[in-house]
Amino acid sequence: MCGIVGYVGRQAALEVVTAGLRRLEYRGYDSAGVAVLADGVLATAKKAGKLVNLEKELGERPLPAATTGLGHTRWATHGAPNDVNAHPHLDDAGRVAVVHNGIIENFARLRAELEERGHRLTSETDTEVVSHLLAEEYSACGGLAEAMRLVCRRLEGAFTLVAVAAEEPGVVVGARRNSPLVVGVGQGEGFLASDVSAFIEYTRDAIELGQDQVVELRRDGAGGPDATGGTGGADGTGGAVAVTVTGFDGLPAEVREFHIDWDASAAEKGGYDYFMLKEIAEQPKAVADTLLGRIDGSGHLSLDELRIPPEELREVDKVVIVACGTAHHAGLIAKYAVEHWTRVPCEVDLASEFRYRDPILGPRALVIAISQSGETMDTLMALRHAREQGSKVVAICNTNGATIPRESDAVLYTHAGPEVAVASTKAFLTQLVACYLVALYLGQVRGTRSGEEIREQVRELSGIGDAVERVLETMEPVRELARSLSSRNTVLFLGRHVGHPVALEGALKLKELAYMHAEGFAAGELKHGPIALIEEGVPVVVVVPSPRDRAVLHDKIVSNIQEIRARGARTIVIAEEGDEAVVPYADHLVRIPATPPLLQPLVATVPLQVFACELATARGNEVDQPRNLAKSVTVE
Ligand code: AGP
Repeated sequence: MCGIVGYVGRQAALEVVTAGLRRLEYRGYDSAGVAVLADGVLATAKKAGKLVNLEKELGERPLPAATTGLGHTRWATHGAPNDVNAHPHLDDAGRVAVVHNGIIENFARLRAELEERGHRLTSETDTEVVSHLLAEEYSACGGLAEAMRLVCRRLEGAFTLVAVAAEEPGVVVGARRNSPLVVGVGQGEGFLASDVSAFIEYTRDAIELGQDQVVELRRDGAGGPDATGGTGGADGTGGAVAVTVTGFDGLPAEVREFHIDWDASAAEKGGYDYFMLKEIAEQPKAVADTLLGRIDGSGHLSLDELRIPPEELREVDKVVIVACGTAHHAGLIAKYAVEHWTRVPCEVDLASEFRYRDPILGPRALVIAISQSGETMDTLMALRHAREQGSKVVAICNTNGATIPRESDAVLYTHAGPEVAVASTKAFLTQLVACYLVALYLGQVRGTRSGEEIREQVRELSGIGDAVERVLETMEPVRELARSLSSRNTVLFLGRHVGHPVALEGALKLKELAYMHAEGFAAGELKHGPIALIEEGVPVVVVVPSPRDRAVLHDKIVSNIQEIRARGARTIVIAEEGDEAVVPYADHLVRIPATPPLLQPLVATVPLQVFACELATARGNEVDQPRNLAKSVTVE
């Protein structure tokens, strides 16, 4: 996710902003930039790569002293991570500078309209349209805050925006919709930032902004000496900072003031003890963000970024998914969706095994490479092999501009934001969403599913973020259970249908976090060997399919639960609300919202993530960086 800092006050804006950006580095980024307002001129510097590149640029070409400014670390979504696409973005005349976090879904139309009006846009970003629109509105209304309100009413999607105007020294304006923005209130200075870690060293007094709100920080009048050597006054470097918050409609808005009692390190984790906990909590938004811009108003899918003509997709006679670890589990689940919605055979391979089985590929085999980091060497080598065999490769990736998407024919980016913890959580859920979108799109293009069926599934997908939120609100019993099992040396996981890969994922989480033996099985395999592992007290997690669909599957897994309980297992049952058949056999019952069968992994996985994280914590393990593991395995 991008990092944003805005500042107005008596300190050197550049110093405060760059320090704030450094505090936001944990959010992950691939370019950075700043803008300061000095003597009525907006001076900017921006560079691809890490902050060190920007600081080198600033050393070679210093910006003038100023007390109003803003900065940005960009996590690329639209447009490659390069100097031109880095923020801030300015209008043609350099009257407004803006930085942005989020996705502006209707930017293509806005851009076309601007270019028809003679604007010259130079980047590939969605953000740049905002600087031109702000300049237009500014000319008409004469105030940056009002211009921001007018522009925000025309934007669709998720956005945090912060802007400064050359003609308004001492003023910084921000706006937010479905994306975070917080205000820091200091002595004679004010801050706008993506999160409090950017300004916590200057002030712990903050204001949380609500949905669809605009905030203006205005430093008025005379005041003490400041970083520009001035004594305050007309150039806006004077006394107190006034904070004005309105809705997009211009009416005064309710805000929540709060005092930050986190330390700076905790602030980077949003107050959570571990990035993994923060990332688990971010899953509802990650799921929603991955859907953004890919479903039109009528529920029709638009995956232009696939860049594979529909007629070629109609010729596809096989889908092959290659991935590793958790991403491989996403592929196993995707198989059910692809085959059900498209009637195209789907194979799923561990990327490290793929090319050694001499797979049957060719131009009609569509290969999907799933990778959070986009740098996993096993997956990269698998996609290279597929392309050598003449197959088209679509990457599903969470890291813009990474090697795997670069070497693929097309990419569908997940928008989970950077995943810092080694154990993958939000990336996994967004990989599932992306796989569902590809499968539904294939079904839509090939006509194997009617428009209404596609729209129904898309409607269900659109509600999954809320369903995940509901699961997260009921996890305390799961944490207590995990703590009670911290001395166990094994946990087994069972599932059927899409619940089987969920069982595998739950076992992997426990292995990599709690360093304990954990194994996932297809429940139907129990009697073919694994049931020999069952003895008194062995904890067994069972992911139960919905009783509303394929009741036969449900009945079979209820039988499996009885079989293991009869042999002493301690049954931990994940079952949908209203499923009463499992109650007599569940030592611990974890309820999940009812979903369509194929989408159940999106809610069933969450308790298993929480379970593994809590058990690892109870064991005193380092949750974000488990032993022996790396976030990205760039060797075979
Ligand atoms: C999952 O929790 C692990 N971090 C690991 O299995 C990971 O999913 C695997 O290494 C693949 O990584 P990628 O998605 O970046 O390719």
